[in-house]
Amino acid sequence: MSTSLAWDERYAGGGFQFGEAPNLYLLSQAHRLRRGMRALAVGDGEGRNGVWLAEQGLVTTSVDWSPVGQAKAAALAERRGVGLRTVTTDVSVWDWPDAGFDLIAWIFVHLPPADRAAACAGAMRALAPGGLLVMECFTPAQEGRRSGGPKDVSLLWSRALVEQHFAGLEVLELLEGPVARDEGPRPQGRAEVARAVLKR
Ligand SMILES: C[S@@+](CC[C@H](N)C(=O)[O-])C[C@H]1O[C@@H](n2cnc3c(N)ncnc32)[C@H](O)[C@@H]1O
Repeated sequence: MSTSLAWDERYAGGGFQFGEAPNLYLLSQAHRLRRGMRALAVGDGEGRNGVWLAEQGLVTTSVDWSPVGQAKAAALAERRGVGLRTVTTDVSVWDWPDAGFDLIAWIFVHLPPADRAAACAGAMRALAPGGLLVMECFTPAQEGRRSGGPKDVSLLWSRALVEQHFAGLEVLELLEGPVARDEGPRPQGRAEVARAVLKR
C-alpha cells in the first residue's frame, strides 16, 4: 500500500523541495483567474501553488496526503499573509465536493493507475460548470532525465491519459513534449511533460 511517508521524509528537511514560487505553467494561466474563484491545489506538497492562487485572490484549498507538507503549506500561507484551507488526505479516497471548485490545479501529481482513475473521477465531480482544470505532469519520455519525476513509469501521464480521464471537458490547451524546466532548487533542465487547460 502506498503511503505519504516518503513525501513526509522528503519535506521534513529545511527549505522547499520545489521552491516557494508557483509552477511556471500555472503562472502562465494567470489571465484566466478571477478573484473569488474557488480553487483547489491537488497534491500541493509544501504549498507553493496553493499559496500563489490564494495571493491572486482565489479562495483556495490545498490538499495533500503529507501532513509534513501541509504544515509547511499552512506556514507559508501565514508568512505571506493569505488564507489557505489545508486538507490532509489521500486524494484517491477523498470525498471530493460536488461542483466545489472553479479552478483545479493538478501540478506534478503522479498516482498509480487505479488511484489516478479514482482521483480524476473525483476531480471531474468537483469541477463546477465553467470551471478550469490546469495540469502539468511528466510523461514516459521523461524517464532517465534528471529534471524530476517518478521512477515507476505506470505513474506517468500522457496526452492520451488526459483525454481519457477528463473526457467531456473542453480542451483549451493540450500539449505533450519537451519544455525547459526551471523551478525550485532541484528540478532544473529539459523535461518531458503533458500540459493541459480544460474547461467544464
Ligand atoms: C511531485 S510533488 C508536487 C507537489 C506540488 N504539486 C508542487 O508542484 O510543488 C507530488 C505531491 O503529490 C502528493 N501525493 C502523492 N500521492 C498522493 C495521494 N494519493 N493523495 C494526496 N497527495 C498525494 C505528494 O505528497 C506530493 O506532495
